[in-house]
Amino acid sequence: MWTVATIEECREHRAALTGTVALVPTMGALHAGHLSLVEAGKQLADHVLATLYVNPTQFAPNEDFDQYPRPRDEDLAKLERAGVAGVFTPTDAVIYPPQQLPVDIRVPAIAATLEGESRPTHFDGVCRVVTKLFNITQPDVACFGRKDYQQLKIIEAMATDMAMPLRIVGCPTVREQDGLAMSSRNAYLHDEDRQHARGLYKALSEARHLVEQQGETDPATVEAAMQNTMQAHRVEVDYAVVRHPHTLAELDCIEPQLTGGVVALVAGRVGDVRLIDNMVLAEQV
Ligand code: PAJ
Repeated sequence: MWTVATIEECREHRAALTGTVALVPTMGALHAGHLSLVEAGKQLADHVLATLYVNPTQFAPNEDFDQYPRPRDEDLAKLERAGVAGVFTPTDAVIYPPQQLPVDIRVPAIAATLEGESRPTHFDGVCRVVTKLFNITQPDVACFGRKDYQQLKIIEAMATDMAMPLRIVGCPTVREQDGLAMSSRNAYLHDEDRQHARGLYKALSEARHLVEQQGETDPATVEAAMQNTMQAHRVEVDYAVVRHPHTLAELDCIEPQLTGGVVALVAGRVGDVRLIDNMVLAEQV
């Protein structure tokens, strides 16, 4: 497995690969969720490339950029064991040279809601870095987790509208045994907080039960139930909503047969840690 830090070296190694390439962009602190994307990439292309880069432009000044875990050697070993062909792990000076005039790519219709409300500049930073990573590594397909559902929808829209020459593939959320979605930020959870964090998955399961088993059609009823479940687990609710699965628009009525399912999305704080999760409901109806 090669590991390179400059754009020139990455282009050179990329050009030497014959056949198709799948890209798995990550910020490191890798867990089984990230590695499932590598597995998906192996099914979709001849070679898998990964990027390891904690992107400063997607963190607000009050967020955890400095504390974000960076176990670089362990991450590289995990990627090598998983069968990745090459890793691009740039420095900030490579991605954001100080003399460069910044360019933003935005997906306004979806980026202002949900995560965008509490993190207004987050998705601009994600779109900027992902565009750069695509242009540097030139993949045929890129794998993203459904765990970050809004991010996935934004990247799909960006790639389509900007006619980017690659396919975006969304992959299932990998969970701990008790349902907690795997996340690099779970490492911040201790003792009781780890127990309380189950509230997010419990709330989503409750929404699934209401929509799929009970045939509930009122979004407000499902949202109130999710909120109650989260609060019962001492999760400080940021949002608990049911939305259109593609546009993330609010729904007057839950009609999965018309919209191709609905997505329940939750975000909340457990202690000092902010967690997000989601579940697509009634997808098959
Ligand atoms: P990061 O949080 O490291 O996540 C990298 C990829 O792993 C994303 O596509 C994310 O959705 C996926 N992922 C995380 N947890 C997962 C889980 N439990 N199951 C399945 N997939 C999971 O998302 C980012 O980094 C950054 O925003 C990035 C796209 C790399 C741009 O900087």
